[in-house]
Amino acid sequence: MSTAVIAGIGSWLPPRQVSNDELTSYLDTTDEWIRSRTGIRSRHWIDPGTSTTDLAVRAGRRALAAAGDTGVDALVVATTTPDRPCPATAPEVAWRLGLGHIAAFDVSAVCTGFLYGLATAAGLIAGGMAHRVLLIGADAFSTIVDPKDRTTAVIFADGAGAMVLRAGDPDEPGAVRRCELGSDGELSDLIEIPAGGSRQRSSGELASPADHYFRMRGRDVYRYAVTRTVEAATAALDTAGWLPSDVDRFIPHQANVRITEAVSDRLAIPAERTLSNIDQVGNTAAASIPLLLADAAAHGRLRPGHRVLLAAFGGGLTWGATTLLWPDVISRTDD
Ligand code: UT7
Repeated sequence: MSTAVIAGIGSWLPPRQVSNDELTSYLDTTDEWIRSRTGIRSRHWIDPGTSTTDLAVRAGRRALAAAGDTGVDALVVATTTPDRPCPATAPEVAWRLGLGHIAAFDVSAVCTGFLYGLATAAGLIAGGMAHRVLLIGADAFSTIVDPKDRTTAVIFADGAGAMVLRAGDPDEPGAVRRCELGSDGELSDLIEIPAGGSRQRSSGELASPADHYFRMRGRDVYRYAVTRTVEAATAALDTAGWLPSDVDRFIPHQANVRITEAVSDRLAIPAERTLSNIDQVGNTAAASIPLLLADAAAHGRLRPGHRVLLAAFGGGLTWGATTLLWPDVISRTDD
């Protein structure tokens, strides 16, 4: 049985940068509140005419180039902001990347999407259904948050990160270990878009325009985010046979700098080993982990041989974690 091994990584951020000051010009918020409560100083938003597919294609192209442009036989796109409710984003991304008539589908696990996608891609390889898989985490949350809702508009942002996985051996650097995944659907209404799905339509009532926006009960989510991320990360460390002190680089989903500090504190991972880019990119949901991986690898904060812990938490509720040894691969964050 083959193991999925990382062969290359890439990312793309839309050029438009939105500072906290820009948001304070029309929202009842302050730069101080946003920085102190979330760690965010700036984020990237797409312009009208751009969509999640565009983000995914650009990041995917960079990851494919980083992996030597040798093609893939499956594409998995993790996203909560597909271009349309139907069909999935991935087939169009595959077509635009010129990947041929390969298997292509979306995975929906909100901010845990990249780790659910990683488990799915690794499963395709382990099951012999694919030899090389392109996995993309792409989200354009600026298109689903209510621009007038200060509790979400200041946090969420746009971007895409992509990774090529190839069939290899479990002992190789870059081999993806078991992903520890979980969910709790009893809490599904803590993070939701109420309208647009079958529940609203089957009720026979028209949704209000506000119900089409993304909502998050942040304070409630916060509590579960720390506990569940610590549990998943602990399970992943146990699977790897690592102590927290063995972790060279902790790459958590970038939801809130206070959450990632609390998680690394509880896990007893030294703060300097916990990487962050939330100050520049905000919360980019499924793109968060691959954006941070690509950025850190391109700029030497993540180096071959580093023992890496990945962990995420998000709507669903969902959570996940895994470990790997960072391989000697190319990371492309520009063309
Ligand atoms: O991505 C994966 C899933 N998401 C998460 O894991 C996010 C988890 N939650 C969080 O990160 C935090 O709960 C938030 C950043 C969303 C909010 O931070 P908080 O410290 O939990 O603030 P809060 O919701 O308890 O609100 C505190 C106060 C409230 O005012 P009162 O009731 O104390 O008078 C809010 O109305 O801050 C107010 N507030 C704001 N004030 C200025 C909320 N948003 C803003 C804002 N600017 N943008």
